[in-house]
Amino acid sequence: MTPQSGWVRPEIGQLFADYQGASKYHAEDDEWLRQIESKCKGALQQFQLQSKLLLKTLTPNAALLKFQGSANLTVDQVLKRRSEFLTTHGLNLISVRAEPGVISIAIARPHRQVLQLPEVWKSWHPDCTHGNHDLLIAVKEEDSSPLFLSPRTNAPHTLIAGSTGSGKSVLMQNIILGIACTNTVEQAKIILIDPKLGVDYFAFEGLPHIQGGLIDNQETAIQTLNELVGEMNRRYTVLKENRVSNIFDLNKKPNPTERFPFLWVIHDEFAEWMLTEEYAEAVSDIVGRLGVKARAVGISLVFAAQRPDANVMPMQLRANLGNRLVLRVDGEGTSEIALGEKGGERLLGKGHLAAKLEGEQDILFGQVPFVEGVVLEQTVAILKGI
Ligand SMILES: Nc1ncnc2c1ncn2[C@@H]1O[C@H](COP(=O)(O)OP(=O)(O)OP(=O)(O)O)[C@@H](O)[C@H]1O
Ligand SMILES: [Mg+2]
Repeated sequence: MTPQSGWVRPEIGQLFADYQGASKYHAEDDEWLRQIESKCKGALQQFQLQSKLLLKTLTPNAALLKFQGSANLTVDQVLKRRSEFLTTHGLNLISVRAEPGVISIAIARPHRQVLQLPEVWKSWHPDCTHGNHDLLIAVKEEDSSPLFLSPRTNAPHTLIAGSTGSGKSVLMQNIILGIACTNTVEQAKIILIDPKLGVDYFAFEGLPHIQGGLIDNQETAIQTLNELVGEMNRRYTVLKENRVSNIFDLNKKPNPTERFPFLWVIHDEFAEWMLTEEYAEAVSDIVGRLGVKARAVGISLVFAAQRPDANVMPMQLRANLGNRLVLRVDGEGTSEIALGEKGGERLLGKGHLAAKLEGEQDILFGQVPFVEGVVLEQTVAILKGI
């Protein structure tokens, strides 16, 4: 069955629309925001950085205050005072960013709001006529708009980095669900590799998109990845036969000799196996061969690691994983490796995200939705046709 648009099955949209567990409005949050505004203005005044407040909003993680930029109010000036903001004024600055004519300051909320997947996804209207590759992975901190990861417009491959408990597996769950809810089995397939024996992925068992079930040993993983290189080369021949340059045009074409499903390789805890020399060599070689060539034929790698340091991740391999989704990391050093700059160590954990996507000028901050067990079960049941 080829859907015209929207979700792969209409029941999914209904499930999200009917969701009752959305976060509630609390009057005390408004009061907290007012207090933060006044404390922040006071602090800026004391530091002689005062400026006009243009906008204040509450995000799931922070109070977001946007001040008019001026000769004295600059990102550097605010960042220099970070520790005084905290110790003297009780303001924990998560991020300070420059926008045209604006300095945007995010101050951590004491009680973070858990963002549930259905409340975010109910306003997502994917177009799956020819399959969908643009995945909603977070809500942006700056304006609450959705943040998409797209192997078509961003880099073809992605690295997810974050210390233990930062929310890597939950982000992977978002990605898997996003693929499965917006593509038929003919349109997308998932190769799921997890050294942790799939403990975070039990709920996906039997999901028709997951090819060959969960892969939990190195041998099968290497074999499968190797086959992917062969498949890439085969696909190039088919593109040529059909006189198109990429999978997107091929799948739109009337009566091609063949249509390709998009292939997603989701590899959790990937650094763990990279400590085995044989695995590290094989994977680096395969990823190198896939490289950017994989984009045109619809192959995308998503690798997650706690610390993508040089000892587990050769530079060349890192360079091939062009999109960076960074959750809270251990220190500035890891942040510089994963994100290309400091700041990942200041993220709040539990799905608080900094995304550096190819094609986007700035680092985007956001919050990944949480996938409640019941929602996961219900969604997977619909996808399995139960
Ligand atoms: N987006 C989120 N929103 C709210 N809570 C979250 C979110 N992501 C993660 N959490 C909380 O943090 C816990 C750990 O998340 P997760 O298992 O994804 O971490 P991880 O980075 O994969 O850790 P590990 O490296 O140990 O596998 C979750 O069980 C959940 O309680
Ligand atoms: Mg995990």
